[in-house]
Amino acid sequence: MQVGSKQYRAVSWDTISDGVQWIEQRLLPFRFEQITSRSPEDVALAIETMQIRGAPSIGAAAAFGLALAWKMDRARYTDYWLPRFRSTRPTAVNLFHACDEMERCSAADPATATMIECAVNYADAEVDANRRMGQHMAGLLAVGERRILTHCNAGWLAAVDWGTATSGIYQLAQAGESPFVWVDETRPRLQGSRLTAWELHQAGIDCRIQADSAAAWMMAKGEVDAIVVGADRIASNGDVANKIGTYALSLAAKERGVPMYVVAPSSTFDFACDSGLDIPIENRNDEELLTISGVDSDGQMCDISMATGGVRCNNPAFDVTPYANLTAIVNEQGKWNREKPGNDQ
Ligand code: MRU
Repeated sequence: MQVGSKQYRAVSWDTISDGVQWIEQRLLPFRFEQITSRSPEDVALAIETMQIRGAPSIGAAAAFGLALAWKMDRARYTDYWLPRFRSTRPTAVNLFHACDEMERCSAADPATATMIECAVNYADAEVDANRRMGQHMAGLLAVGERRILTHCNAGWLAAVDWGTATSGIYQLAQAGESPFVWVDETRPRLQGSRLTAWELHQAGIDCRIQADSAAAWMMAKGEVDAIVVGADRIASNGDVANKIGTYALSLAAKERGVPMYVVAPSSTFDFACDSGLDIPIENRNDEELLTISGVDSDGQMCDISMATGGVRCNNPAFDVTPYANLTAIVNEQGKWNREKPGNDQ
C-alpha cells in the first residue's frame, strides 16, 4: 500500500541486500522504519516480539525467514529452523501453513533461488487473496452500509498488502465511495488506534478511534452498519479465533442485529480443528497490561507504568467467536459455507 509517494508491503524479500525486509510495526504511528536482515533468527524474533504481526504477515515472514535459513544455514534447516519458526506464536495458523509450504518446497533440495521464489509466491498468493476478498466484501456491503466498525488491525500491515478486513474498505474508497470506519483502539497493544487508524489516515479514509468498550453503545445507537474483522484461525465448524474483544463484539452485534463479517484467506482455515475449543489461544505477558509505550513530549519512545504494580494479570491475546454469531465468513472464493467447506456456493 502507499505511504507518501511509495508503495510498501509489510514484509518482503529485499533483492538489494538479498535478505528479508519488514516494517517495524511497534514504532508506528510515531516512526516509519523498515528493517532489513540476512539473519533468520532476526526474522523469528520479529514475529515473537510483534515487530511483524497479523496472521498473513506472520505466515509470509516465516516463509521469507525459512528461505533465508535455507540460504544461510541449510544444514540445520529441518532440525532447527523449521521448529524455530513453528514455535514463534501459537494461534495464527497461517504460520504453520507457511512452514509446511516451505518444508514442501525444500523436499527436492532445491537451489536457494527456488526457495526464495517459493516464499515470494506464498506472499503474492496472500496479496492476491486479499484483493479478491476485498472485491467480495465491497459487493457484500449493501448500498448505504458505509459505517463500518473494525477491531484490531487486519489491514495491509497485518496481511502483507491490501489487508483482509480493510481490503473491501480500500476498494470502496478507490471506487469513489466514502466509507467511514469506527476503529476500536484494541487494548492492550493498541493495534487499532496505532496501526489501523494510521493506515486509514494514510489512505484518506475518514475514521474515529474509540475505546473498545464504546463499540456496543455505538451499535445500540444505530451508528454501525456492519462489523468487519479478520481472523487468526478458523475451525472446520466455522468458529473463529481473532483478537481479544472480537467475541464481545459478536454478542452485541447479534443483540443489535448488526451484520458481522469475518474476512480471512484459505490459509487461515484449520480443518484439523473441529471447533474453537481446539484452537490454541496465546497468553501474553503481564507487561502488556501494566505498561504502555508511546512518545514523550520530546518525541522519544518510552514505556510508562499505568497499572497497580505487583498484581498479576490475565492477558489472553485472542478469543473465539462462534459461527452462529456471524453473518458470514468471506475468503478469496467468496462467502464460505461450512456445510460445503469447499466453498461451492
Ligand atoms: O496479536 P496480533 O496483532 O498478531 O493479532 C492480529 C489479529 O488478531 C488480526 O485480526 C488477525 O491476525 C487478522 S490479520 C489480517
